[in-house]
Parts: sequence; C-alpha cells; structure tokens
Amino acid sequence: MNKVHAVITGIGGYIPEYVLTNEEISTYVDTSNEWILQRIGIKERRILKPEEGVGVTYLAEKAIEDLRSKKDFDPLEIEAIIFATSTPDYILPNSASLIAYKTGMTNAFGFDLSAACSGYIYALEVASVYISSGKYKKVMVIAGDVLSVLTDTLDRNTCPIFSDACGVALLEATTEEEGIIDSILHVDGNSLEYLHMLGGGSVHPASHETVDQRMHFIQQDGKVVFKRAVTSMAEVCEEIIQKNHLTKDDVKWVVPHQANLRIIEAVASRLDIPLDKVMVNIDKYGNSSAGTIPLCLWDWEKHMRKGDNVILTAFGAGYTWGAVYLKWGYNA
Ligand code: UT7
Repeated sequence: MNKVHAVITGIGGYIPEYVLTNEEISTYVDTSNEWILQRIGIKERRILKPEEGVGVTYLAEKAIEDLRSKKDFDPLEIEAIIFATSTPDYILPNSASLIAYKTGMTNAFGFDLSAACSGYIYALEVASVYISSGKYKKVMVIAGDVLSVLTDTLDRNTCPIFSDACGVALLEATTEEEGIIDSILHVDGNSLEYLHMLGGGSVHPASHETVDQRMHFIQQDGKVVFKRAVTSMAEVCEEIIQKNHLTKDDVKWVVPHQANLRIIEAVASRLDIPLDKVMVNIDKYGNSSAGTIPLCLWDWEKHMRKGDNVILTAFGAGYTWGAVYLKWGYNA
C-alpha cells in the first residue's frame, strides 16, 4: 500500500486593514523611510488597531472565511486544529478552542503551538504526522500573530519590523506522491539573552515593575539573531535538498520566513537559488512571525502548480528553526 501523505488542499489568509508606513513610524522613533527600506526591506506593514477590540482569533476567523470562499469543505469534518501563535487572545482558554467555536469546527480537538516564527513549519510537521499515522484525514493548520501588541513603539530595533497577519492551510490525506515529503526541525534554547519577551510568564508575572521596565515587549540583539538566522536557514535548506536528492533546478519555490530582506537574500545566495524562485512579500507585510510563510503561500497561490517542489524555511525565537519539503498539490 502507498504511504499516506498530508497535502495542502487550500490556503486562506488575512491582513488587517490599517497600513502602518515607514513615514508614520518616523514620527515617533528616530528612524527614516530610507533606513528601514535599505536595512530591513519593509515599505509598509499591516497592524490590527487596539481600538478594534479583537485579537489574533479575529484574523484567524477571517483567514478561514477566505479559505472557505475558495474551497468547499464542511467545518464539521475537521478533526484537529493546530494554531501556531505567540500572541493568543488569552493565556486561558487556548485560541484554537475559540477558533473552533467561531468557525463551526466543533468536532475537532485543537491546541495552540508556540514556536515563534517557526510556528507554521512546526505545525505542518505535527499535522503531517497525525495524517500519515492514518488516524486523521483533515487537519486545519493556522498560523498568525498580532506582534504589534508585543512591540515597543519607543524601540527602533524592533518597531519597524513587526506586524500582524494570519494564514491557514487545510491538510488532507492522500496516497499520491505529493504533499509534505520531509522536514528537518531544530530547537536551541541557549538564546534567551538575544531574543525574548521576559514579562508576563511564570518567572516575571505581570506587575507594576514589569510594566515600568517595559518587559512586556520583544527585545533582541538584532545582529546576533541576523547571523544565526542566515546560517541556520541556509544549512537546513541545503540538508533537506540533499537528503531528498533534489538538484537546485528541481526546487521551484523557496518560502523563507520574512524577517529581513537582507537575511532572505543571504540565504538565497548561499543556496545558489535565484531570487525569482524565492517568495518575498516583507516589503508589503513586514514580519508577522508565524504568519509570514502562510501569507507568502496565500500571496503566490495562483502561481503555484501541482507537483511544484517547495522548500519552506523559518528561524525564530527559541531559537527554533527548520525546513519542510513539500510537493504542491493543486492548481488554484
Ligand atoms: O523574526 C525574528 C527574528 N528576528 C530577526 O531575524 C531580526 C534580525 N536582525 C535584523 O533584522 C537587523 O539586525 C536589524 C534590522 C534589527 C538591525 O539592522 P542592522 O543592520 O543589524 O543594524 P545595527 O543594529 O547594526 O545598527 C546599525 C546602525 C546603528 O547606528 P551606529 O551605531 O552605526 O551609529 C544603529 O543605532 O543603525 C542604527 N539603527 C537605526 N537607525 C535608524 C538601528 N536601528 C535603526 C533604525 N533606524 N530603525
């Protein structure tokens, strides 16, 4: 009998309406449109305004609505919901439960998965193993963040980078040689000092002091993270390409996490893969953490063809990183 694979059969996405420009950021922090464009590659990003009074599950709900406008499926047939996010609506209950209720996927079980910017590729791996085990046939993978709530608008090291977005993928079982073929994932916890948000967890629960010390915002040593991101993503992509006996010509698309255009260009250059095969939309949408890779797939869906070899790669806090090799399953 042929091996069961998990194949993506539909993609949805959602970006909030508010466009935060480099010019607007330059009004509250010492930076410029030129610096942000040259050093990060972002022209504008989307932000969920706090006055809307909603959180990341609102973005997820909208992304699922988008998926349902293109793909006919019964929400009651979904057996599992895996929601990759670092910015759940609440600490309790988990956001997957809220999404299940709001979107009618009430026969599913669901949980949130925390792996920062690598959340989507981690979630795909979990969904893939669930499906290839034979026990589950339809799994909803959702990945997105509202990073604007963790962004210190007084910190020019982070505030031009982060944004809000969400993407979803419906994964189904197939016995064809397509879908998720392989993945290599890593974690290295020896990086707490370089990329973190220290307040609000069990070590530093929220207090007047944590608020005064701005501990509820992400802080990073950008240079250190930049170098590790380039070497780790390039190495893991090279490894998965070789392990699956692919040539560089066989690879139709590379879909990297969108943290900095210079990181993406450096990874492509190390892999010797031309930039026209690399999905880049950081200029329009910034870095929405777990949301960036599904948002690229959403943006490029109409250009992808059944059988395309696709390499997804991410790097984020933890550190967490890895690569997924999949064969695209449909023509949009
Ligand atoms: O997705 C999660 C993982 N995160 C990442 O992957 C982020 C990785 N890091 C980066 O993307 C980059 O390191 C940053 C965008 C954060 C910073 O860019 P950089 O080219 O590494 O800048 P830098 O920190 O080396 O700073 C260079 C100069 C400094 O000035 P001096 O000391 O040379 O006078 C900074 O003070 O640029 C200055 N600078 C800025 N200037 C204008 C730093 N940030 C800004 C800014 N606007 N926003």
